[in-house]
Amino acid sequence: MRVIQCHSTVEAVTTVVSMIIEKIESHPNAVLGLATGKTMIPVYEMLAEYKKDNPYFLEKCYFFMLDEYLGLPENHPSSFKSYIRSHFLDPLSLQESQIAFPPVDLMDGPAYYEKLLRESGGIDLQLLGLGRNGHVGFNEPGSEKNSRTRVVGLAEETIQANKDQFNDIIPSSAISMGIGTILESKNLLMLATGLSKADAVRELVKHYDDLKCPASLLRDHPHFTLVLDPDAASKINLNI
Ligand code: GLP
Repeated sequence: MRVIQCHSTVEAVTTVVSMIIEKIESHPNAVLGLATGKTMIPVYEMLAEYKKDNPYFLEKCYFFMLDEYLGLPENHPSSFKSYIRSHFLDPLSLQESQIAFPPVDLMDGPAYYEKLLRESGGIDLQLLGLGRNGHVGFNEPGSEKNSRTRVVGLAEETIQANKDQFNDIIPSSAISMGIGTILESKNLLMLATGLSKADAVRELVKHYDDLKCPASLLRDHPHFTLVLDPDAASKINLNI
């Protein structure tokens, strides 16, 4: 795992955006895995700025979403589908035909999504956020290293952390790529910002393959970059 500690949140976001741009410049038809959450909003905003001067940016890419809530009506404003439309697809003028969403309405949705991933040739760059309890996607503590796309129950901590996004239904389950699925991506790029992530970052940096910290199951990926702002890095002392 390569850790990049930045001097500010803006520098952390810029670092992530630069790495995405670099990947697309060398590989214009790359397959990108997208994450949601508040952390990613400035990343998508900066990509949209870049696109203004680079109209063909991401035009040949294909995207896969990491996860989605279950139990929400179609087009619910708090679904990750709505999030990615309003923060990514629309501002960057990208087509909905360029993205795959985890199927929330199919019995064999997880298997179908894995098939789509295989048929795409695999993810070139997977963008990842970090849950306060160390979750990635919605792989909560206890998730296995070889887990695949599946229906998962959300940890109480996750429900509490995300409940301000819901006025009505508060989902307690989701469909998420598994840790094993994420590990098959060619590159992993994780961004963690803010004090609320400092404990999870400390656990991630301290442990390998600790089921209590799902992100630590990604540590032996050969191309895993973790980008931190000062608050997220405030509980680590890196000599690695
Ligand atoms: C959510 C998502 C993750 C995201 C994480 C952090 O629950 N499933 O993909 O990375 O939690 O979210 P935030 O950036 O809002 O802290």
